[in-house]
Amino acid sequence: MNNGALLALACILMLITVPSCVHTPEPIIPQPKDTTKLDTIDKRPCHVDSVYYAKDIQPLFNEFCMGSGCHNLPNPADNLNLSSYSSALASGKIKPYNSVNSKVYQSLVEIDPLKRMPPSGNLPIEKIALIKKWIDQGAKDLWCDEMKTPCDTANVLYSTTIKPIFTLHCVGCHGYSGGVSLATYPGVKAVVNNGKLWNSVNHLSGLSKAMPNSTTKLSACNLRQLKIWIDAGAPNN
Ligand code: HEC
Repeated sequence: MNNGALLALACILMLITVPSCVHTPEPIIPQPKDTTKLDTIDKRPCHVDSVYYAKDIQPLFNEFCMGSGCHNLPNPADNLNLSSYSSALASGKIKPYNSVNSKVYQSLVEIDPLKRMPPSGNLPIEKIALIKKWIDQGAKDLWCDEMKTPCDTANVLYSTTIKPIFTLHCVGCHGYSGGVSLATYPGVKAVVNNGKLWNSVNHLSGLSKAMPNSTTKLSACNLRQLKIWIDAGAPNN
């Protein structure tokens, strides 16, 4: 008897002797999304009806609320520091989904001109409306692709593309010393090599801490540029 025939016989015997030997389909185990391919990186177009803190609100705070001695460090007036999303929310003066009970919004529409903010003069009505809308949408720190600046994926170099991303988004916490240093090439290369950089900026939860933090991601453009550079061997160019 050849092997095929033996196998067939074995199968028949099994079917006879093991009554439970009926064909049950393999359970389908969902596979994690493959984020290693460029074209699977999330694209998040900016939604016209959504308010994006970094794009729409922080620039207003920067322009109107952060003069010297105002709502920024070292001594934020009224304990309200509007220089970043986290400090703005930590003040308790912005109540997500509830603009009318948010001190920040109240101060913009205050009737008494001596108490109204900013002291330099009223904010244009459409800017007040934008802040109101942002709070009523949950005062979130949403992000989307930068629609204004096209993504340059043709000339990705460490010096001109990658380093500035870290300087802007990471070096504040990951300076020259400490566990993860992103201010210099050797520090960056170390986290490229151990895989933690890619995991953390893509929020591959469970593998690494989500960076820059759990609610903010680098833009899709920055992620594409990082991927291109890492795939090229993360050169110091
Ligand atoms: C608000 C502060 C803050 C910012 C901004 C920040 N990080 Fe972190 N990061 C941390 C802390 C805290 C840890 C955990 C302690 C450590 O490993 O240094 C960490 C850890 C990491 C790790 C190690 C993750 C692991 O699993 O061990 C990497 C990689 C990293 N950060 C990359 C980045 C990158 C890239 C950026 C910018 C896109 C960034 N971080 C921005 C605070 C920050």
